[in-house]
Amino acid sequence: MKITVVGAGGNVGAAAALTLAQRDFAQEVVTIDIEVMRDGNTFNPARGRGLDQWQTSPIHLFDTFVHGGTDFEASAGSDVCIITAGMPRRPGMSRDDLLSTNAAIVRPVAEKLARYSPETVMIVVSNPLDAMTYVAYKASGFPPERVLGMAGVLDTARFRAFVAEELAVSPKDVQALILGGHGDNMVPLPRYSSVGGIPLTQLISRERLDAIIERTRFGGGEFVQIMGTSAWYAPGAAAAQMAEAVVLDQNRILPCAAWVTGQYGINDLFLGVPVKLGKGGIKDIIEIELDPSERALLEISANDVRKIIDDLHRVMSF
Ligand code: 2OP
Repeated sequence: MKITVVGAGGNVGAAAALTLAQRDFAQEVVTIDIEVMRDGNTFNPARGRGLDQWQTSPIHLFDTFVHGGTDFEASAGSDVCIITAGMPRRPGMSRDDLLSTNAAIVRPVAEKLARYSPETVMIVVSNPLDAMTYVAYKASGFPPERVLGMAGVLDTARFRAFVAEELAVSPKDVQALILGGHGDNMVPLPRYSSVGGIPLTQLISRERLDAIIERTRFGGGEFVQIMGTSAWYAPGAAAAQMAEAVVLDQNRILPCAAWVTGQYGINDLFLGVPVKLGKGGIKDIIEIELDPSERALLEISANDVRKIIDDLHRVMSF
C-alpha cells in the first residue's frame, strides 16, 4: 500500500506523512513538493522531510518507507493521495483569501496525481478547503466518491479536545459531529455529540457549550493569531486518519467534505457531511435528521461555499 503526500515540504503535509509512517500500515509514503530558492541556493524540502522521517524509523519502530522529492512519477500507483499543497493563512487572512493562489497550485497537482494513479482516492487539505476539493474533483476527472476534503475530522477533533478539557475527561470518550463548510459558519451539532454515550447537552451548560462552539468555529484562526500561520499537527493527523480508513477499508463514519447531490436538500457542492469511508473512498453519505435551526445553519454554511465556488468560476474555467 502506498500513500503520496503532495505539499510535504510544508508543515501540514509533513505532519500527515509522519503520522502515516508512525501508524505503520502502508509499505510506502511518498513526500512530494516543489523546490525552493533561498539565499541563491535551490533546496528540495520534500526530499529532506522524507529522508528525515525515514531516519526516525528505528526510533519510532515503523517499516513504512518514507521518501520523496519533486518528481510526481514517484507517486505512481498510490492507493491514496493527500494534497496539502498551497499557501497557508497569514494574520488578517481568511481561508477564502487564498482562493486564486491555491486553485492555481491544486489544479496541476490533481491533474498529475490522476495521471500517475488513475485509481487513487484524493484527500484535499489545501484551503479554502471546500473549493480546493472542487478544483481537485474537476482537475482529476474522478468520480465524486474518490475525491474528498479533510475538514470535519479536524474540526470535530478540536471540538472534542475542548470538551475533554472542559469536563476533565478523556478525549477518547468524546464523540462529536460538525457539518457544513470548513469556515467560520461550520455547524457543530451538540445534539449529536456525546461523552461515553451520554448526550453532551446533559453534561455541560448552554453557556459553556456556546463558548466551545465559538472557539471551534474559529479554531483555525486561533492558530493564525498565536503563530502567524496555520496549524499543522491536527490537520496532518486528520488527513492521515482518513487515508488509513481508505487504505485499510475500515468503513469509518467520519465527517468529510463530500460531493452532495440532494442530501440535506443541497446539490452539487462539496460540503462537510458524515460519510462511510473505506476502500474506493466514500461508500455512503449519511443523512441525519436536523431540526429547523440546525437546517438553517447548514444552509448558511452551504451558501458560503456556493459563493466561493462562484468566485472560483470567475478566476478559473473548467
Ligand atoms: C485549520 O483550520 C489549516 O484550515 C486549517 O487549521
